[in-house]
Amino acid sequence: MVGMATVGPASGYSGHYLHRSVLLAEVVEHLWVRPDGVYLDATVGDGGHAVAILDVASPAGKVLGLDRDPHSLARAVQRLGPYGDRFVPVQGNYAEMSALARARGVSRADGVLMDLGFSSWQVQEPGRGFSFRSDEPLDMRYDPASPLTAAHIVNSYEEGELAQLIFQYGEEPRSRAIARNIVRNRPIGSTAGLADLVARAVGTRRGHRLHPATRTFQALRVAVNDELVHLEAGLKSAIELLAPSGRLIIISYQSLEDRLVKNFLAQESRGCICPPEAPACTCGHQPRVRLVNRRVIRPSLQEVQLNPRSRSAKMRVAQRL
Ligand SMILES: C[S@@+](CC[C@H](N)C(=O)[O-])C[C@H]1O[C@@H](n2cnc3c(N)ncnc32)[C@H](O)[C@@H]1O
Repeated sequence: MVGMATVGPASGYSGHYLHRSVLLAEVVEHLWVRPDGVYLDATVGDGGHAVAILDVASPAGKVLGLDRDPHSLARAVQRLGPYGDRFVPVQGNYAEMSALARARGVSRADGVLMDLGFSSWQVQEPGRGFSFRSDEPLDMRYDPASPLTAAHIVNSYEEGELAQLIFQYGEEPRSRAIARNIVRNRPIGSTAGLADLVARAVGTRRGHRLHPATRTFQALRVAVNDELVHLEAGLKSAIELLAPSGRLIIISYQSLEDRLVKNFLAQESRGCICPPEAPACTCGHQPRVRLVNRRVIRPSLQEVQLNPRSRSAKMRVAQRL
């Protein structure tokens, strides 16, 4: 899952390993990077996309790099140090990206990138609780200052609520059996303990590539970080922030996110949204974006071979009208 990514030419990054950025060339191509443009990387992570954008946006282009996770942002700051004040780090939630950018004097961006989910490094970092492959406290927060942890959900939600959450956010068909097994075995203290309970509830599915706990862990991560609510708010905020002709790129890794992005962009690219049976338009809805790619952009076979994590990536691009 973790690759030794190529470090940008000006990067002084000295971390052990880096997140391998997904669809890197495609992002740079579709963002229409200009030498004096201002770009918002709303999920800067390990900074791979930001490095590529800054290299093309030379000599005067800027990147505001936003991340909810202060540890991630610290890594990006270290890696992007050589770019001086062309890189502006911001800790915060992309749900508020427009206000956060305005507070740094940026009221219009020429492009916005949202590379959703978590980075390989976050999964590898001990103590974060994202991985079922090691034994860790059940945390899963991007922002350690936010109050809700996976341990709280697993140990205090009612069985029905837990089953619904695992079904809705993990698209796990065996959610009821999993919730029952969790409730019977409380308190649950660690990721490995939870993964084991889930595996026992669903059994190992023969020929199945995914670990049996993958969907449950996804559901808990989405709930702990309120990911879908923030994604919707982030998309709205990105459209507010984009300059005319500016481009928005979203890379998603699971179907819930991609569906939300697809529906949001479809709505924003449409004129009238009155019901089809309405005799005349009363909504006055105006399109705010143009869809650049009707079919999602996927990583090449070569990229997937180099970086298996990229296999589920779907990239959508829209342009501000
Ligand atoms: C897939 S990684 C980005 C990797 C990055 N593009 C790179 O090339 O290294 C996603 C990042 O988004 C951050 N993130 C998740 N939810 C966020 C939110 N609501 N607001 C801001 N950042 C968020 C995570 O902490 C993580 O660092």
